[in-house]
Amino acid sequence: MTPKYKKHIFICTNERLLDNPKGDCIRCGGMDIRMKFVKLINQHGLKGKVRANKSGCLDACELGAVVVIYPDNIWYTRVEVQDIDEIFETSIINNGVVDRLSADEKTWKELQDIRDLRS
Ligand code: FES
Repeated sequence: MTPKYKKHIFICTNERLLDNPKGDCIRCGGMDIRMKFVKLINQHGLKGKVRANKSGCLDACELGAVVVIYPDNIWYTRVEVQDIDEIFETSIINNGVVDRLSADEKTWKELQDIRDLRS
């Protein structure tokens, strides 16, 4: 298997009605986050090697904005546009993880707890 991209970034830009309790990533800055990734990819001459795609809902809406990076399978939650320089430098350039934003078991438990409270 030969992946087309060295890094493939998915940025949720899903949008829901404002009164939807799940929230969405568009109101958490999903579009600006994607544009920032695109800008950095171009600035670093990585077009064709790294791609930043808008995605639909990644099912972690309450913890938006959500960003996933493959093939590393890193999930970032509660991402803000001011985090993108650090994520890019760490995960795209240096193959690392920004621990303070990366999802772990606690993250998914928190998400489940939020959803359980609502049901
Ligand atoms: S709306 Fe972004 S993860 Fe669901």
